[in-house]
Amino acid sequence: QSILFVTSEIADYIKAGGLGEVSAALPRALRRQYDVRILIPGYRQVLSQIGPVEEIARLPASFGIPACGLGRGTTQDGLTVYVLLCPELYDRDGSPYVDGFGMDWSDNDIRFARLGLAAADIACGSGDPLWRADLMHLNDWPSGLASAYLAWRGQHIPTILTIHNLAYQGNFDRSRMSHLGIPDAAFQINGVEFYGKLSFLKAGIYYSSHITTVSSTYAQEITRPEFGCGLDGLLRTCAEQGRLDGIINGIDESWDPSRDPYLVSPFSAENWRGKRINADNVRENFGLALSNGPLFAVVSRLVHQKGVDLAISAAETIVSQGGQIAVIGQGEPRFESELQALASRHPGSVGVKIGYDEGDARRMYAGSDFLLMPSRFEPCGLSQMYAQRFGSLPIAHRTGGLADTIEDGINGFLFGEPSLGRFMDAIRRGLETFRSGSRLTAMRRAAMSRPHGWDRSASRYQEVYERACRTALA
Ligand code: ADP
Ligand code: GLC
Repeated sequence: QSILFVTSEIADYIKAGGLGEVSAALPRALRRQYDVRILIPGYRQVLSQIGPVEEIARLPASFGIPACGLGRGTTQDGLTVYVLLCPELYDRDGSPYVDGFGMDWSDNDIRFARLGLAAADIACGSGDPLWRADLMHLNDWPSGLASAYLAWRGQHIPTILTIHNLAYQGNFDRSRMSHLGIPDAAFQINGVEFYGKLSFLKAGIYYSSHITTVSSTYAQEITRPEFGCGLDGLLRTCAEQGRLDGIINGIDESWDPSRDPYLVSPFSAENWRGKRINADNVRENFGLALSNGPLFAVVSRLVHQKGVDLAISAAETIVSQGGQIAVIGQGEPRFESELQALASRHPGSVGVKIGYDEGDARRMYAGSDFLLMPSRFEPCGLSQMYAQRFGSLPIAHRTGGLADTIEDGINGFLFGEPSLGRFMDAIRRGLETFRSGSRLTAMRRAAMSRPHGWDRSASRYQEVYERACRTALA
């Protein structure tokens, strides 16, 4: 069976967050069972790294969506990647979604409609003359229109849409519809309309055969108004129809403290010396004083979702108890400057790097004792799993994937509501554990040995694929 996996980021070449990591790992976990091929826009960062790309077809222009070349390349380990060759849309510096000032690219609707339309073409055999898909797997709003384009053409291929974050919806002015080739009749509640706007995510949810999201708790949460971002009604209907599932993400094998080349020293649950060496390295790198006290890490996009404000508020108390904090992140300018101010108020105790650095992140998971993750909502969250794998105990809000991957008092700490009071209670429990020594070691061991791999989740995707194909035949 052949699967077209459509994504706007893949960690091999470009990633803005967890979606890029999942897009790199899940197709690899599935390739033993399926002929999985990836479709991605030909961003500058993709074309400069992927190696030879052969143009195998031209995809025609349609309304305001420009024509483009369809390239085919392969990853280093031989996965087929279809790349959209359209320099006017994708040959830019910056992230897949925003420019250097953090503003959405003004033509994001066209850029990702191009992706959705190409997906529909390739899936039904009018892209690669030698290949078609039995199933399409879409991810988040950027690929949401793919299933809609198929439906409007009267073509039906089983389609799975995975929601990695419901808060990002791809909503645009209705006047853009004609540029994107969206029929007027689709602008209604049973279609692409969302509070008077055109919504790519809503289209994906409405027209796909099956919806998954990245943890079972989040799958339930998004059917409620508090977490539903306006789409809870539609998602409730999906759930009632048995079309909504939660499947937790895994983490890949590179997250192994005994052989991660980014670490300054390897370590394991039998040999903690290396963990200490990484901790000292983080202290040095973040301008922190040498210390035997607890080291807290924050590795995060700096946005409201992640509860950065709560982490900043908790910092004073942590420092007053002898703790140190290392932060790496980038995002909203107000959080960036508040964090920098915090660091200058507490030299030697709080160290902040604004930016994105994989090596720093890995050494922080390895060197820290605790990871602060007070996310207001968290569809899955990968950071807490990385931390666990590296023996750093996450202190996290009991929501979404955090609730599903952390067992309170066993391999991390959970608190019930995203308030400073509850967060501080959990931090205090962490500090007590740190002081007890033996409990700390036991919890670290539990966290490191928690099964985090992709196998189980991959077989759950397989079940969903099979169900979607059966329903399509019925
Ligand atoms: P999200 O996708 O919502 O940002 P996840 O926890 O799923 O959250 O994934 C975030 C990923 O990005 C993790 O791998 C984390 O280590 C990484 N990350 C986040 N911020 C940074 C940063 N500033 N530097 C390096 N890695 C980061
Ligand atoms: C999103 C979510 C995050 C999840 C990731 C991968 O970025 O915010 O919780 O882990 O997607 O599915």
